[in-house]
Amino acid sequence: PTPVILDCDPGHDDAVAILLAGAHPTIDLRAVTTVAGNQTLEKTTLNARRVCTVAGLDVPVAAGCDQPLAGELETAGDIHGDSGLDGPSFGTPTVPLDPRHAVDLMHELLAEAEQPLTLVGVGPLTNLATLLRRYPEDRERIERIAIMGGSTERGNRTPYAEFNIFTDPEAASEVLHSGVPTVWHGLNVTHQATATPEVLTRISELGTPLAGICVELLTFFREAYREAFGFDAPPVHDPVAIAHLIDPEAVSCAFVPMRIELDGTHTRGATVVDLASRTGWEPNAQVGLELDHARFWDHILAAVGALEPG
Ligand code: BDR
Ligand code: CA
Repeated sequence: PTPVILDCDPGHDDAVAILLAGAHPTIDLRAVTTVAGNQTLEKTTLNARRVCTVAGLDVPVAAGCDQPLAGELETAGDIHGDSGLDGPSFGTPTVPLDPRHAVDLMHELLAEAEQPLTLVGVGPLTNLATLLRRYPEDRERIERIAIMGGSTERGNRTPYAEFNIFTDPEAASEVLHSGVPTVWHGLNVTHQATATPEVLTRISELGTPLAGICVELLTFFREAYREAFGFDAPPVHDPVAIAHLIDPEAVSCAFVPMRIELDGTHTRGATVVDLASRTGWEPNAQVGLELDHARFWDHILAAVGALEPG
């Protein structure tokens, strides 16, 4: 299995990413680390512990950065609610908080690993950029960094910027230019990852308490997306990055030139992806293009069905 550290800001779709990474036999989930994004660090960390608890996942959970590298955090309560994970009611989590800072935990896990680790970032990239700043020697211990962020088209936080990149553009740019191979799954592909009524029925038919929680999460998420964006079915962004690691054929990708806009008057945080080779820039990033919707949800269904708290 691929050894993975999942850095996230749960977040409804982050929660599904944790379940997929925690359950799939081709992934060896070594830690879940949290960052401020969809909600404050305190809330995203509590939510990560909640998700691991209801899923019966025994992995270290550590909290990282509580603010982006530059600027002030603007959370996404309009999409994820006041708790960051509105919908189901959770009991007190039993999965403990690891006392280490997320960046130090990542560094220690990289140092002790028998092979390079894959890092997955599905929130603002503040923790990953901080790791690469603080421990540049760790770059050679990272197999690659898989990211949910950006878009080859338009944004969702602003007309041209996607939420994770908009929240910390400097971090995203540092990760992009770090020299570590990166793969970016943006809105152009994650908007294909819709939780349709058929998907919700299939999850519900699993009949387990965890499946019930998933349905409640996705139902809240559906209503939030309906209200904010007029979507019929919500796009479950973050597990796309995990699904691509599990099953490369589930997400087709291209290796293309990419930059992050840091200074634009109205476009800060936009990902500038040169799909048509207009710039003459060297290709530097792998970018997700097409999702196989059926394969994607089959993997998630299998994962949710396999998990039960011990
Ligand atoms: C991204 O922003 C967050 O709200 C989601 O969890 C996802 O990571 C989508 O733009
Ligand atoms: Ca997220």
